[in-house]
Amino acid sequence: MTSVKPYFLIIAIAGLFLSFRSEAGVTEKMPCLIPVPQDLKMGEGCFRFSQSTNIRGSRSYPVLYLQEKLNASGLATDPSGQAEEIVFSISPKNGLPEEGYRLEIGEKRIMIESSDNAGAFYAVQTLLQLMPPRIYSGGADIEEWTVPCLEINDYPRFSYRGMMLDVSRTFYDASYIKKHIEWLAYHKINRFHWHLADDNGWRIEIRKHPELTEKGAWRGPDEVIEPSFGSGNKRYGGYYTQKEIREIVRLAAERNIEIIPEIDLPGHSRAIAAVFPEILCPVEGGASVQGETKNVWCVSREENYRLIEDIIKEIASMFPSEYIHLGGDEVALASWKECPSCQKLMKECGYTDENQLLFHFVRRVKGIVEKYGKKLAGWDEIMEDSSIGKDATVYAWRSVGTAEKSVRSGYRTVMQVAEYCYVDMKQSPLERGHNWAGIVTLEKLYSFDPLDKFNFTDEEKENVAGIQGGFWSELGNRPYRFVEYQNYPRTAAIAEIGWSSPESRDYPDFYRRLVTSHYDRMYHQGIAFRLPYPDVKYFEKENAVKVRLPYPSAVVRYTVDGSEPDSDSPVCMSAIVTDSPRKFRFATFFNNDLKSISVGASNIKLFDTLAVCSDVITNMGEHTRFPLSNLKDGNAATYFRSDRKAVPGDYIEYRFGTPLSCSEIIVETGIPDITLYGVTDGYVEYSYNGIDYVKGDTFVDGVAVIRPDQQVKSVRINITGKSDGPVLAVQDLKIVF
Ligand code: ACM
Ligand code: ZN
Repeated sequence: MTSVKPYFLIIAIAGLFLSFRSEAGVTEKMPCLIPVPQDLKMGEGCFRFSQSTNIRGSRSYPVLYLQEKLNASGLATDPSGQAEEIVFSISPKNGLPEEGYRLEIGEKRIMIESSDNAGAFYAVQTLLQLMPPRIYSGGADIEEWTVPCLEINDYPRFSYRGMMLDVSRTFYDASYIKKHIEWLAYHKINRFHWHLADDNGWRIEIRKHPELTEKGAWRGPDEVIEPSFGSGNKRYGGYYTQKEIREIVRLAAERNIEIIPEIDLPGHSRAIAAVFPEILCPVEGGASVQGETKNVWCVSREENYRLIEDIIKEIASMFPSEYIHLGGDEVALASWKECPSCQKLMKECGYTDENQLLFHFVRRVKGIVEKYGKKLAGWDEIMEDSSIGKDATVYAWRSVGTAEKSVRSGYRTVMQVAEYCYVDMKQSPLERGHNWAGIVTLEKLYSFDPLDKFNFTDEEKENVAGIQGGFWSELGNRPYRFVEYQNYPRTAAIAEIGWSSPESRDYPDFYRRLVTSHYDRMYHQGIAFRLPYPDVKYFEKENAVKVRLPYPSAVVRYTVDGSEPDSDSPVCMSAIVTDSPRKFRFATFFNNDLKSISVGASNIKLFDTLAVCSDVITNMGEHTRFPLSNLKDGNAATYFRSDRKAVPGDYIEYRFGTPLSCSEIIVETGIPDITLYGVTDGYVEYSYNGIDYVKGDTFVDGVAVIRPDQQVKSVRINITGKSDGPVLAVQDLKIVF
């Protein structure tokens, strides 16, 4: 067991190293603020809140907000109090930068100065971060509420610090959106980009066209939109009424958050097209990159612009934002290639390729947006044509290259580059999430700089509005509160990139502040954030499983039987001696409520081998790039994709020339490592003689396990309900001997 110690020692030393790594040598005393302020000087002593802390200042929202927060925690405030006081001075005369503030904490007085409400609000956020984390959850039993004496002069690096949320693929109701906005405000994020309409649901009430939400907000077996993305064979959906939208806009304004609404046009429009099929070109074109058909507006149909105007008119009245985002991304141009009237329009306008129809469309909708006093924003596809006009804002998403091009072309650009800023991407290879833009670890995201990467001229730098993270919600259905898991703590990294000076950017220090204080804050803010899992390895020579903690104070619990560790599982205190490590599962626990995903030893496979099939058969057609033969190639990364949705009666059968002797067969469906497009409703069967079948498990989250007690000759997947993906994906069988 002595061999354990070095492994744990490494952690302890690393932890120690992190907490003392400040050049000034005072890091360990500094408050762990996120985002880190521009300038902070520690003083001596502390300010102590009492039951009669006097708050002085106008009845502006930052003042009322602080009062509410203190009162919710049982701290009375007394305007006539004589003891200690918090004084707000909010006036342009203070000459502080926009959204900037000065926070001076003395033993008897906290002074907050700013030129605008936003600055005072952010001073309050900083003050809350200096208080015990229970300030966020209304903790009433803490006797001593103190904050250290200090002086902070702070202001944001970028005026645009945003997060985008897709509410079409997964619907988050109005009360959830309010929480989401509170969480953004805690991080000094000042823009919420609300992706309100896409292929899989229309989420905003338009009074002139109630069908949009009566029908277009719902998917299900009897709805105009088919089930997708895990919503299953049941009615699923929802939308925001205009009343709810106005409430949310009002709340956001009192959190210094501007909401930029997005209706994605002219692609990504299957939800509205399912309600109003006449908006499509009369001849069906090809599918979008997401495999969606019937999702592109016809450019040449004049009535379409009247419908768009009806929608924009109401949206403009609901949102005070200067901008309306109208998408423009990923349009399947094939629809326009097949459409006689779009082709006629091309000829009339002298266009030589269908992309010009996209710009034609964008120019038209830009005119409508401007008619209602707004400016146009769109994804970076819209910048490819200078006719759009440089007063449009471009959201650069496709690559670092398109971001650079947008800025150099003179567009006001929001940096939401997918490979850094898409928080729907996986956070590690083991976790659920997309990976088409790569794995976006916290450290990778934190390394992104909207300016330094590019060598922009001073003039070009002016075009960089700021940074935004984005969450597309295709995988939002599970596990529970996955949206928070994906957004936090990555939103904290976005916040620091957007706010703090690039000179202060230091990942080990950010991670130290995160694990030392910010986890506690997020927990009390009510965020089910991602916790890193432990690094576990099996050392064969010593027959021992050893655990490296993800941060010094982490608690790791484990099970030995393959089950999920829970708060009653033993805490891992040292190496575990065993010669059968496969069934061990480990997870980091923040407390009884919140834990990481569970992992086994990273150098031990969870199965012994892939099954070698002599044959695989199905009644479904195969996708040309993902043929059935992929299930026989002994490569776990390749898989079969059907050429259509799976429906009841569909099957896939694996046959073995040599019968399989094993204890378990793991039948996994969905794209490997993404678990998208798996079996929605179905079960497995297996046969010992190739003729008679034994019914096995039904699929749960696309996975079923067979535990045979004889040699198996064949395994069959039977579909009992429509798949909720546009295709079915099925993987190689995995065998445990
Ligand atoms: C996008 O990810 N299609 C903007
Ligand atoms: Zn057309």
